[in-house]
Order: sequence, then C-alpha cells, then structure tokens
Amino acid sequence: MKKTIAVLKGDGIGPEVVNEALKVLKTIEAVYNHEFSYKEALIGAAAIDATGNPFPEETLKICQASDAILFGAIGHPKYDNDPTAKVRPEQGLLAMRKKLNLFANIRPINTYKALSKSSPLKEELVQNVDFVVFRELTGGIYFGQPRGRTEDGNTAFDTCTYSKEEILRITKLAFEAAYRRGKKVTLVDKANVLSTSRLWREVVKEYAKEHPSIQLDFMFVDNAAMKIIQNPKYFDVVLTENMFGDIITDEASVITGSLGMLPSASVGDKVGLYEPIHGSYPEAAGQNKANPMAAILSAAMLLETAFGLTEESKLIRKAVEEALTIGFVTEDINKNNHYTTSEVGDKIAALLNEFKSEIA
Ligand code: IPM
Ligand code: MG
Repeated sequence: MKKTIAVLKGDGIGPEVVNEALKVLKTIEAVYNHEFSYKEALIGAAAIDATGNPFPEETLKICQASDAILFGAIGHPKYDNDPTAKVRPEQGLLAMRKKLNLFANIRPINTYKALSKSSPLKEELVQNVDFVVFRELTGGIYFGQPRGRTEDGNTAFDTCTYSKEEILRITKLAFEAAYRRGKKVTLVDKANVLSTSRLWREVVKEYAKEHPSIQLDFMFVDNAAMKIIQNPKYFDVVLTENMFGDIITDEASVITGSLGMLPSASVGDKVGLYEPIHGSYPEAAGQNKANPMAAILSAAMLLETAFGLTEESKLIRKAVEEALTIGFVTEDINKNNHYTTSEVGDKIAALLNEFKSEIA
C-alpha cells in the first residue's frame, strides 16, 4: 500500500516520541511491503519561532495533501505564564482542528495488566477497564463567539454554542463505535444548568430512537467525574462536548497507570490526526527519557483507522504489550530499571520483526 503521512512533531517531547513512532512505521513498511512517504511540517511553538504562526499555511497544505497526520505535542512553558502573549502554540492546534474539520476526538481508555499496580486506583477497580470517549472537538466554548473583554477590560466572556448538526455528526460516530463494542452510550453533560446540554440530550435521544439495541444513558459531568474514579468499568462509549471531554479524558487517562500509554485520533471530513494524549512534557524534552509508547500506539491507530491495516496495527499493539510485560519500559513506568526513549523504540521495532517471522 502507498500512502502519504504528514508528520508534525511539534514541541517538547513531541519530536522524540514521534521519531520512535516513525521507526515503528518504517519497520511495518519493510515487513509488510508498504510504501509510506513522510512529509514533515511545523506546528506550535516551533512554528512560531520559525514563521510567527503556530499553524502555518504550508503546514495546512501538507496536511490536506496527506492521507493521515501523525502528531507529537504542542506547548511551551515560555507562553504558559505570559497572559500577554499575542500568539500561543495552542492556537496552532485549535486552528488545525478547525481548518481540517476534525470534529471528533476519540480517546480510548484501557488498562494494561503490567501497569495495574501503577494506577492511583485500587487494582480491582482498574483491571479490565475499557472505554472510549468521543469528545466533540470543533465547537462549544472553545470556539463560540462572541468572546473577549468588555471595553473597560474589567470583564471577560466566552460563549458556548452548539448546533443540532454539530451534535448529530459526532453522535453518529459514537453510536457506530458502540455497535462494535459494548452497545452502550453514556452522554455526559450538564443539562441541569446549560441550554447547550439540553440540546445535546434532545438530539441524542432522538437519534437513539432509531437504534434500540444501543443502551443510552445520561450523566451530569460532575457525577461522571466521580464515577470515573469509583467505577470506571461502568463506561463503554462516552459521548460529550468539547470542554467536558477535555477535562474527563485527562482524568480518565491517569487511572490507567501511565499517561504515556494512551493514543488518540481526531477525525472529521477526510484526513485524520493521530497523537499521544500526554502533551509536550517540556521538563523531559531532549533527554531521551519520555515514554514513546503512546506515540507508537497512535501510529497503530493511524494504520487501522486511516488505512484499514488491522493486522499491522495489531502487531504493533502486541509488541508494545510484550515490551511492557518484559519490563522494557521508560522511567515513568519503572523508576529503578528503565530504558531510554530510543531504546524502547528499538525494542518494539525488533519485536515486530520477531513476531512477524514467527507468523510467517
Ligand atoms: C487537549 C489539550 C488541548 C485542548 C489544549 C492544548 C488546547 O488539552 O488536546 O486535550 O484543550 O483541547
Ligand atoms: Mg486536554
């Protein structure tokens, strides 16, 4: 198979972990006789430094001309504590989501046996947790107008808006996923307070009528935040709006025992984006110690979702699980006995070759 992948390494540990994902993709190419071409482009603080724009036009063009996007991370501390900064790296991510119409962010939350002791929750609570969050990504309070300050500068405001159409298109994706999984959708909202949430309920309820085999329930976001801690096994498919999804996916990610393990996909019209959910982790940047597994699993998600390469994707997951099981991990997972980012990438690539020759 011939495909083009846009590679946006971004900031912080982004370049290091994406390099390991590329190593794995190149191994897959060799093992399965595929031909991927990689087009690098700038985003985030790196793009601001080079061009003044966190999502340059050139990057948009490269993304649009590709079959999928592999993305590292965005954000730099020099902007975080400066409320006066005119351009911020995060604007690059938001611009990319909007311009590529990536309206659905898919974040699977599953746990690994080898990590169940590292979870802040009791082992019996986290074992076999397996759910997926469908977070709306291009609407709500992140993008609603008007936003800004009053003339005197003493009051600030953001607006949360949703249209029926915006709600419906992600609802369809969440239900499709539910058919393939446990056939249950939980809509997380704040319908006791927000009119946008009441519209979400209306639209989702209506849609669910045509899908009687899918069990639909509703949960206020504050209650969902508790439930994720008390009984995470409750969930199958979680459907929610942009801001609530941002918050609960960070919460959900830590119960798995390592933030460094979770991939995600953002999809919409045509080209989808695949990224680790851990962010730029600037404290570790350049030290060859960040966990590359989430980026590698994002590459697996890319192969499966964007290119339909299920076997290749499974093989990558198997190699990652094996590395975890034999303790070939970075220091976030094992403080006493650990390997570097690139060593873990090398190991996973070697395991892929081993497994493949076993199958052949
Ligand atoms: C995420 C991040 C972004 C968001 C930031 C970096 C703008 O937290 O992808 O979850 O809030 O969506
Ligand atoms: Mg977030």
